[in-house]
Amino acid sequence: MSKYQTLFEQSVNNPEQFWQLAAENIDWYKPFDKTLETEYQASGRWFSGGQMNTCYNAVDRHVKAGRGAQAAIIYDSPVTQTVRKISYAELQRLTAEFAGALLAQGVKKGDRVIIYMPMVPEALVAMLSCARLGAVHSVVFGGFAANELATRIDDAKPKVILSASCGIEVNRQIHYKPLLDEALDLASHQVDKCIILQRPQHFAKLNELHQQDIDWNEAISLAEPVDCTPVAATDPLYILYTSGTTGQPRGVVRDNGGHAVAMQWSMTNIYNNKPGDVYWAASDIGWVVGHSYICYAPLIAGCTTLIYEGKPVSTPDAGAFWRVVNDHQVKTLFTAPTAIRAIKKEDPEGSFLSQYDTSSLQNLFLAGERSDPDTLAWAEKLLSIPVIDHWWQTETAWAIAGNPMGIEPQQIKHGSAGLPMPGYNVQILDDEGDIKATGEMGNIVVKLPLPPSCFSTLWQNAERFHESYMATFPGYYLSGDSGYIDNDGYVWVMGRIDDVINVAGHRLSTGAIEEVLSSHPAVAECAVFGVIDQLKGELPLGLVILKTGVTDSEDKILTEIIQRARDQIGPVAAFKQVAIVNRLPKTRSGKILRGIMKKIANGETFKTPATIDDPAILDEVATALIDLGYPKTA
Ligand code: COA
Ligand code: AMP
Repeated sequence: MSKYQTLFEQSVNNPEQFWQLAAENIDWYKPFDKTLETEYQASGRWFSGGQMNTCYNAVDRHVKAGRGAQAAIIYDSPVTQTVRKISYAELQRLTAEFAGALLAQGVKKGDRVIIYMPMVPEALVAMLSCARLGAVHSVVFGGFAANELATRIDDAKPKVILSASCGIEVNRQIHYKPLLDEALDLASHQVDKCIILQRPQHFAKLNELHQQDIDWNEAISLAEPVDCTPVAATDPLYILYTSGTTGQPRGVVRDNGGHAVAMQWSMTNIYNNKPGDVYWAASDIGWVVGHSYICYAPLIAGCTTLIYEGKPVSTPDAGAFWRVVNDHQVKTLFTAPTAIRAIKKEDPEGSFLSQYDTSSLQNLFLAGERSDPDTLAWAEKLLSIPVIDHWWQTETAWAIAGNPMGIEPQQIKHGSAGLPMPGYNVQILDDEGDIKATGEMGNIVVKLPLPPSCFSTLWQNAERFHESYMATFPGYYLSGDSGYIDNDGYVWVMGRIDDVINVAGHRLSTGAIEEVLSSHPAVAECAVFGVIDQLKGELPLGLVILKTGVTDSEDKILTEIIQRARDQIGPVAAFKQVAIVNRLPKTRSGKILRGIMKKIANGETFKTPATIDDPAILDEVATALIDLGYPKTA
């Protein structure tokens, strides 16, 4: 048996022993009494009885161990022409001060804090400061509109919100304060304070609409630094909202102890990084990749983490990633396939690469969506290093399948997400719950218990947690993805079984977009589904039926609908394609056939379902899609 196989077998046959050993690499104030409580919520719960602090493990312990002078964070911002290095000692001071500021504003252990910020070091300081106090943060991606922020405010009920005066996109500034004020108007829950970081690029007016704002630096100046608060391993570290099938996002709850153990383990065994290495996850703190691999894992492992405020292209060009690798001696780069596609589109020959020395780079990891074999092969040829697709979800916080580069590199199969990672007993089930034969497509599930760091519940909604993930196949976690396992045990993740789509590595709910479309006064009915896009992987496309008697022009209505999606969900949804139809294809029981419309748009073959109400509607839909340019010819 290979070393990987031995470890994998140990992890599924004796998970408690496996993770108990891994937990030795985390500093505990009080050792845990029980490694795994299998009976907890069906999913299991790790390290109960233990006490620790995530910020201590990510920051203070490295200072104590003599690594205070090492860079903890490198902030590289081409959009503001800034590079800033923050040592572990400085990060300890910054988190102690800002945790003090939060405490002075009334935040204590267990209180929620929403963070709605751009990619600046203060965003990481904010997350770590919450962890320092035992407060529960919930980061909301900056590309979400006020309405989405309001939904999260009402669900998480934060005491304090942390934001900044602006974010900087390629061609414009995003002024967060008006969005925040609008969200606070929309939300029923009221917060005590908003702490606002003023950036030199734009000064936000404080206390203009709501009298609760306080300047970031002022908040710090009013407070004393504080030490780390011991928390239970099973206490929540953060809530991260992700898309499900409805407009109401799912609040994934991550605990402190299991998370720290798995983060540390993954840095060594999957990414092959050791203290002092420079690790760069080119994502955003608003996503799980940002939580795990911009903030927590690299710091817990004593690496240097890189915060990049820019894009793979146009800040200033398609050589941006290679420039950053060169400038900061990046050893591991992690991004989404869409970013590589964007670079490939601008610079198909990869000519920018020759301007830089990227010899420090040992591995490129991709996730967020399936890596299409063309893109993976292109990057492999260009960089001459292993390019590794790995599959994971907000729910898990680390890879379910991948390639354990720190244990021993495995063969790379283009198009596959790799082998199940230790801890994840991945299986394929048919809709009746029977195990599928090797090579056959089905529901990808993980046999319980889930390993440490996987979510323990949905925020204040254990019922939805159970219904959405645990109830379909008792004893298994339903991933929501479909695919198969091949003869060599490799997992092939081919698509979703629900209405979630993946736009530029961002997970979105078509149901949420449909809710916005339906709210337009002229819309009687609608359907949204994902269509293939060469750059972003998928894009949402909407078809709407208008109410009878509507007098506005169709152009006006369509423009309003697109604007409404941008205003209510955010620019990140990239909802720009919508057409008017007279009817939508449905089954006789009234279920809209989104999957069939998706296949028509993507030019895929399909079988007309026997249960369809009126097959002629498919021709009408095909005509509307042709007008929108679908199916696309390559
Ligand atoms: N705040 C405000 N607006 C934001 C934002 C933020 N933090 N991030 C993105 N947006 C806006 C963009 O400006 C854009 O607006 P536009 O419609 O006015 O152009 C829109 O949201 C879509 O953004 P994005 O998905 O980033 O697309 P893009 O066309 O600007 O860039 C890529 C395309 C491929 C370069 C980009 O998607 C990318 O780098 N992706 C990396 C993927 C990633 O980080 N995935 C996370 C999971 S690993
Ligand atoms: P998120 O929770 O935002 O990280 O999105 C998780 C979803 O993205 C998964 O359920 C998959 O549908 C998709 N996904 C992420 N990584 C991969 C991958 N490597 N291969 C295929 N799909 C992926």
